[in-house]
Amino acid sequence: MSGQAQRLAHALAELEAARARTLALTDCLGDDELMAQHSPLMSPLGWDLAHVGNQEEIWLVREAGRRPALRPDLDDLYDAFRHPRADRPALPLLSPAQARRYLGQVRDQALEVLSASPRAGDPLHADGFVFGMVAQHEQQHGETMLATHQLRAGPPVLDAPAPPSAPADARGLPREVLVPGGPFTMGTDSDPWALDNERPAHTVDVPAFWMDTVPVTNAAYQEFIADGGYDDPRWWTPEGWEHRRTAELTAPQFWFRDGGTGWLRRRFGHVEEVPPDEPVLHVCWYEADAYARWAGRRLPTEAEWEKAARHDPATGRSLTYPWGDEPPSPEHANLGQRHLRPAPAGSFPAGASPLGIRQLLGDVWEWTSGDFRPYPGFAVFPYKEYSEVFFGPSYKVLRGGSFGVAPVACRGTFRNWDYPIRRQIFAGFRTCRTAGEAR
Ligand code: AVJ
Ligand code: FE
Repeated sequence: MSGQAQRLAHALAELEAARARTLALTDCLGDDELMAQHSPLMSPLGWDLAHVGNQEEIWLVREAGRRPALRPDLDDLYDAFRHPRADRPALPLLSPAQARRYLGQVRDQALEVLSASPRAGDPLHADGFVFGMVAQHEQQHGETMLATHQLRAGPPVLDAPAPPSAPADARGLPREVLVPGGPFTMGTDSDPWALDNERPAHTVDVPAFWMDTVPVTNAAYQEFIADGGYDDPRWWTPEGWEHRRTAELTAPQFWFRDGGTGWLRRRFGHVEEVPPDEPVLHVCWYEADAYARWAGRRLPTEAEWEKAARHDPATGRSLTYPWGDEPPSPEHANLGQRHLRPAPAGSFPAGASPLGIRQLLGDVWEWTSGDFRPYPGFAVFPYKEYSEVFFGPSYKVLRGGSFGVAPVACRGTFRNWDYPIRRQIFAGFRTCRTAGEAR
């Protein structure tokens, strides 16, 4: 296949994978449940459904294809900035059947645009970027919709096999790994489908630090709870303590007491014992930060996280993924909603970084210490509402991707962000400490 044919096939496969996910997450519920709001934090699933179609119309049909609009009347309804999530159920939204028909009509035209010759010199078309952007956008909503499913009350409608059990060496892994000091390349200029906030590549000097080999587990987090971590302001920032008090946080979201000293959790409508060796999930930034301080450690900076995930000390290069440059396979990481839970800590030895750090990609998003800021030399591309409007002190960065993230929207440079109080996202964390400082 020629390079051009290969890019076409890749873009087509990713658009189709995204649509299969969208339909799987929405075909399993009746119209009433699709148009209901399961949490004030989330849109009705029927809003996400039509919104991915509207974005595809805007970017593939109108912008990339320069074709006339199909449904310009929908732009306002499905503009995420026009209507807060809590107001969306009251809008005159498309019914699920209308939305599915609209998605199909947009996709037919998008595929015609994809198979036409790309406009030479247009950066939207370079390496099929705009098709990759739209596939990533739909898959990001696939993760958002999965979070809505987790918040939804009622009998389970989603099912997936459990992840493989931990490998034999998982219990014998060193607790932490030394990441040597020195410069590394953060961000990218060369990954064709990297989004604007991942660019440009730039050198960052990161002093030596010790990084947790695996994410913090439920068992470790329960020690923090049992030690009174939620009742001790010493571990919390002032804002974190204020939030802990007013939101009455006592444990990760979806956990409750089993009547004795143990914990149960609700997961996609199932109730189960909290599995001790899984990475902790559904904690906010303030909880992660407090745990780290209780443990005598801290959250990694974003640069530390990316260096741990990408730096190859043998060559000095930054890899695309911890394991190298090959795209993720099921041996590397728990991605793509193949499993609806994180794998046990220590899983996926084939996905380890050159230094042996595991599960950096997949399983749980990992909170980092820092605010969402542009890299030096940042340029908006192609629209400022993807990243730029979110830069500043309000949002904390998450890295690595969860079991709910599609491989197309996951790589060592990928940046996610959310408010430090948010817990419905599939987020956990790992801790670190500066080398030479006591733990
Ligand atoms: C990158 C996950 C923070 O869901 O708000 C979806 C992705 N942007 N539609 C979000 C996104 C526009 C975004 N996050
Ligand atoms: Fe969106």
